Amino acid sequence: MSLFFFRSASEFSISEIADLLTRGFEGYFIPIFVDDTTLLTMMRRDGIDLTESRLLFKDGEPIGVALIARRGWTSRLAAMGIVSHSRSNGAGTWAMQHLVEEARMRGDREMLLEVIEQNTAGVKLYQKVGFKIVRRLLGYKIENPSADSKDELQEVDIRELARLVTYHGLKDLPWQLSGASIVQHTPPARAFRLHDAYCLISNPEAEHVSIASVLVKTSSRGAGLSPVLMRALFARFPNKTWHVPAIYPEEICAVFDEVGMRREDISQWQMALTL
Ligand SMILES: CC(C)(COP(=O)(O)OP(=O)(O)OC[C@H]1O[C@@H](n2cnc3c(N)ncnc32)[C@H](O)[C@@H]1OP(=O)(O)O)[C@@H](O)C(=O)NCCC(=O)NCCS
Repeated sequence: MSLFFFRSASEFSISEIADLLTRGFEGYFIPIFVDDTTLLTMMRRDGIDLTESRLLFKDGEPIGVALIARRGWTSRLAAMGIVSHSRSNGAGTWAMQHLVEEARMRGDREMLLEVIEQNTAGVKLYQKVGFKIVRRLLGYKIENPSADSKDELQEVDIRELARLVTYHGLKDLPWQLSGASIVQHTPPARAFRLHDAYCLISNPEAEHVSIASVLVKTSSRGAGLSPVLMRALFARFPNKTWHVPAIYPEEICAVFDEVGMRREDISQWQMALTL
C-alpha cells in the first residue's frame, strides 16, 4: 500500500497551509515566504480552490502542498512544494499523478502550470505526467530609468483594463496575466492609459514597482505605443526599481528590451495538459 495520502487543504487553517508552503519552497531559486496575507491574496487573485487543493502526507506527517486554481473547464497548479528532506523520493510524482486524475474526475478539460525553466526536477516531473510546453515566459528589471516624457497618463479603473485584456489579449495568456486575474487587483495598484495603450502597476508609492499588465488595443498595434506608455510611466514615477515578473510571453517582450530593461536570469515554461 502507498505511504502517501492526500487531505483537502480546506481541512487546515490558512496559517498551517502557508507555513507548509514556505517549507515546501525552502532552498528555491528565489526566496519564498508565504504568510497568511500572501496566501489569502493568492486565493482571491488567482482563484485558488482550497477544497480541491491538497496537503500531501507521508507516514502521517504533512510533507507537501499543492494549490489548485479553477476557472470553468480549466485548472491550474498554482503552487507545489515538497519539504526538502522528502524530495527526490517519488512524492512529487505520486502527487501529480493523483492531481491530474482528480482534475479528470471532476470534469476539467485542461490543466495549466508555470515552472522555472532552470528547475530540472520540476520540469522533468511535469513532463513525466504529460504536460507540454506552450511557450517561454520572461521577466525584466530596471533601476531608476531616465525618462523625460511629456505624455500625460490618464488613470483608469482596473476593471476597465481587465475587460480590455479579456477582449484584446492573447486567448492563452498565462493565468496571472489574464483578464480574470487582472480584475482581482485593487488599490493601491493602479491602471493607466495613454491613447490605446494600457498598463497595471503595483503601488507606485513603493520603492519597487511591478508591472502587472501591459496592453495595446488590437487596432492600434504596430504603432510603437507600448514603449511610449512605459516611458511616460517611468517619468511619472521617477526613482523606482521596476519589475516585470517572469510571466510574460517571450513573443510580446520586445517592449521591455526597447525601453532598456534587463532580462532576468530566471525564465519560466508555460505548460499545459489536455485532460
Ligand atoms: C519539484 C518538486 C515538487 C518535485 O517533487 P519530488 O518529490 O522531488 O519529485 P519526484 O521524486 O517524484 O521526482 C520527479 C522527477 O523529477 C526528477 N528529479 C527529482 N529530483 C531531482 C533532482 N534533485 N535533480 C534532477 N531531477 C530530479 C526526476 O526525473 C524524477 O523522475 P524519475 O524519478 O522518474 O526520474 C520538489 O522537488 C519540490 O518541492 N521542490 C521545491 C519547490 C518547487 O520547485 N516546486 C515546483 C514549482 S513549479
